[in-house]
Amino acid sequence: SAQAPTAPRRVENIHTDKGKVPVYATGVVDQNWAGYTDEDHATWATLFERQRKLLVGRASGEFLRAQDAMGMTPDRIPKYDDLNAVLEPATGWRLIGVEGLLPELDFFDHLANRRFPVTWWIRRPDQIDYIEEPDLFHDLFGHVPLLMNPVFADYMAAYGRGGVKAHAIGPDALQNLTRLYWYTVEFGLIREADGLRIYGSGIVSSSGESVHSLESAAPNRIGFDLERIMRTRYRIDTYQKTYFVIDSFEQLMAATDPDFTPIYARLAEQSSIPAGTVLESDTVFQRGTGEGWATDGDV
Ligand code: PHE
Ligand code: FE
Repeated sequence: SAQAPTAPRRVENIHTDKGKVPVYATGVVDQNWAGYTDEDHATWATLFERQRKLLVGRASGEFLRAQDAMGMTPDRIPKYDDLNAVLEPATGWRLIGVEGLLPELDFFDHLANRRFPVTWWIRRPDQIDYIEEPDLFHDLFGHVPLLMNPVFADYMAAYGRGGVKAHAIGPDALQNLTRLYWYTVEFGLIREADGLRIYGSGIVSSSGESVHSLESAAPNRIGFDLERIMRTRYRIDTYQKTYFVIDSFEQLMAATDPDFTPIYARLAEQSSIPAGTVLESDTVFQRGTGEGWATDGDV
């Protein structure tokens, strides 16, 4: 039978420390669920239970509801096919397995077509508290639940289309857009009726930052401002110095709807802002004390 034009094409098998993995032209791999060890499932259970306890009253209500609605449970690593059976009818998104980080354009193309790449392997027990690269726990527990939210689902697809465009414009545009992803999708906070809540995947998948982002006096918490964010450098190896707060996913969607081309041109004339700086023009929810901040450079 004819393959759909977007269907990944298997090109080779690669060997990893988890065994042989089929690799497709788009970087897509099988989840190979049967290959997970008891230790892998136990790692998922440990992380899942710890985070869910921490996130009640800290994560956005929408995130927690969506995670329940998808049927993610601690007892075993979810099968992508089972999650897709819930996710696809809800918002048209589908999970695909990947080996790890993808080339930028491939990543954007997947998002634009409502395919979310999920790293198939889970961290080792000695990496429970911290791992540098995204693994299955970060991707699945952190990113996937909000794809059930229709507005956030549209935002992610629009981001993918915007990524393809920024890639064509050039590296500075791409850097501006990457900062937006970082300060929303990965490290965003949202203002709910009962106070600030987390929706960023990089936070919800980290026990330390789940507490730090909301309760520490060290970081700044500043109202969402598109161009300000696109100028702001960030941290990759420490907690963020600044978190940006949205009022709603609708606000995020509306603010990012305009054509970014003239914005990129304008930003090219402006200097970047260090990760911890507070500006006169900022809406400040909390001015950080800066306690414990690294003094070496931001990305
Ligand atoms: N509106 C942006 C553009 O024209 C695309 C975009 C949408 C980027 C949503 C991020 C999020 O480039
Ligand atoms: Fe991520």
